[in-house]
Amino acid sequence: MSDQLNFIRNFSIISHVDHGKSTLADRFLELTKTVPKEKMRPQFLDMMDLEREKGITIKMQPVRLIYRIRNQKSESRNKFQIKNSKSQTDSFEFRASNFEFSDSEYILNLIDTPGHVDFSYEVSRSLAAVEGVILLVDATKGIQAQTLANLELAKRQHLVIIPAVNKIDLYQARVEETTADLAALLDAKKEAVFPISAKYGNGVEKLLRAVIEKVPPPKGGKGDSLRALIFDSKYDSYKGVIAYVRIVDGKIRRGDKIYLLASKILAEAKEVGFFKPNLVAEEELKTGEIGYIATGIKEPGKLRVGDAITNLKFETEPLPGYREPKPMVFLSIYPEDTADYESLKAALGKLRLTDPSFIFDPEFKEALGKGFRGGFLGSLHAEIICERLRREFSLDIIISTPSVAYRVIDKKGQAGLVKSAADWPASIEIKEVQEPWARLTVVTPSDYLGKVMKLIAGLRGSRQQETKYFGTQTYLLCSEVPLIEIISGFYDKLKGVSQGYASLNYEFLGFRPAELVKMDILIAGVKEEIFSKIVLKTRAYQEGRSFLLKLKEILPAQLFTVSLQAAISNNIIARETIRARGKDVTAPLYGGDYTRKRKLLEKQKAGKKELKEKGRLRIPVEVIFELMKG
Ligand code: GTP
Repeated sequence: MSDQLNFIRNFSIISHVDHGKSTLADRFLELTKTVPKEKMRPQFLDMMDLEREKGITIKMQPVRLIYRIRNQKSESRNKFQIKNSKSQTDSFEFRASNFEFSDSEYILNLIDTPGHVDFSYEVSRSLAAVEGVILLVDATKGIQAQTLANLELAKRQHLVIIPAVNKIDLYQARVEETTADLAALLDAKKEAVFPISAKYGNGVEKLLRAVIEKVPPPKGGKGDSLRALIFDSKYDSYKGVIAYVRIVDGKIRRGDKIYLLASKILAEAKEVGFFKPNLVAEEELKTGEIGYIATGIKEPGKLRVGDAITNLKFETEPLPGYREPKPMVFLSIYPEDTADYESLKAALGKLRLTDPSFIFDPEFKEALGKGFRGGFLGSLHAEIICERLRREFSLDIIISTPSVAYRVIDKKGQAGLVKSAADWPASIEIKEVQEPWARLTVVTPSDYLGKVMKLIAGLRGSRQQETKYFGTQTYLLCSEVPLIEIISGFYDKLKGVSQGYASLNYEFLGFRPAELVKMDILIAGVKEEIFSKIVLKTRAYQEGRSFLLKLKEILPAQLFTVSLQAAISNNIIARETIRARGKDVTAPLYGGDYTRKRKLLEKQKAGKKELKEKGRLRIPVEVIFELMKG
């Protein structure tokens, strides 16, 4: 068993967004002939259309590579070999000085990961299944915010880190500086950093061999008793829920009985196999390997990522699992056609299988019917999930503007999380309201420092914590700000002032007191719950006014004058009026039939009176959709 393990390496590629992970994976696929030449296409592992269109990786993607080495014993004594002096730098340098390649075949399980901050849960799950990572840095951009955040995740898992500087083929590449920065960041020597061009293949094979040399083979229990960590999953209408697993101990064969430890479910391994990168069935999966188990389970909600699969009933020791992700950004999702509610529910369930970092609860709004309140890790995350609902499930949905969840403490001292204005308690019951704060980290080249600092200082409540000169020409700025300030367009502004060079990361810090109120909107004197919003007290008037102006602009003209009001606890703070559209109902009548004219005018008057008495203006659904988008 241990011999076999020596020929397995499990590793990930991590980096900031766009630094070239998927392109490097392409070269690995070619080098190992995993994908036939004629089938290769750029960023092969970005399998979703949405990923290809947006040019970003959204999902992690495992793939099993077979790398054959023909008797090259001298290979290990290459010029990058360094003798270790400090134990803490072990992981960044060649360790096995007498490592020898002989005719051998290695199984390299690679997991390509996303780079955007909103998908860091994908990264952390991938990292729990591997022993090492390639940390890739774009030589034209240098170290960026997600380089640091993902490095932190890899360190927490005690993984071996192999640094590489990419895009060295570009004329604007600052290879020397980036190498120096990366080496300094890892407390390693510059020679331990691999210069590569993922696009043209320079240095790529050397890097793959470094993976074999530096990443330790997996460890694991011998024998048949199975423990497999579920690090991802997806739904297949024929095979049921498919668990992506790392076999920690033991082995599994097709047809074996399996137990999902935390969910206490008994199932059968209908099929087991590897990622090539498509699912390819095999007879069995063994210790240290990465593969999939088709469980036949038809209810998507039953399988939990982070759970363990065993073949020993439920007595097995559980695996450490994952830290639960904390959704921070909330929005409402409604089917445009109310008949699609059940399809929307099923689609959300299936998507959650591939992405356990979002949540959804049922919600009801009188004007729209049944829908959901979803919680996401960030605005891009929310946008991607909604886009997937539209494309993968052909659903027409309407979504509201993203918001955050607030913590409300009532007079009895009890705290509750409020995710939408509909859950806001009456003001007399509220003792204190708190809003989520985040630690914002911005990495910027020194050229844009002034503009970036000004932008951060302009965020409400922003508290500058630290400014560090970092590397050769980069600044790292840390501050504490209310989360809503980050998710409402800050990313685009940051890119704008820095020509795309500054990058950000944020982490939830906790809840802090805030002066927040619920603002209601009244149309013709009737409160329309659907438009209620939680706003800062100091910004309430401004927000109320701009909402009413927009409403006035898009609400169709009415037969009678309609008042539009914004109110806080029944106090009107802003007001607008839509003037009556004085339709001349007698226009078709010319000539002198006065009696008919009078009759028509009276009918119109009665109609207006009836509308007024009913008290409610029917707001077209399109208007609601338009206003929900903010
Ligand atoms: P995310 O997964 O979204 O974080 O992106 P990524 O890190 O996988 O980056 P990707 O491989 O999608 O590459 C981003 C862009 O950089 C693409 O346009 C690639 O063609 C380009 N690129 C990647 N590596 C190189 C390189 O070595 N040289 C050049 N010139 N371009 C490269």
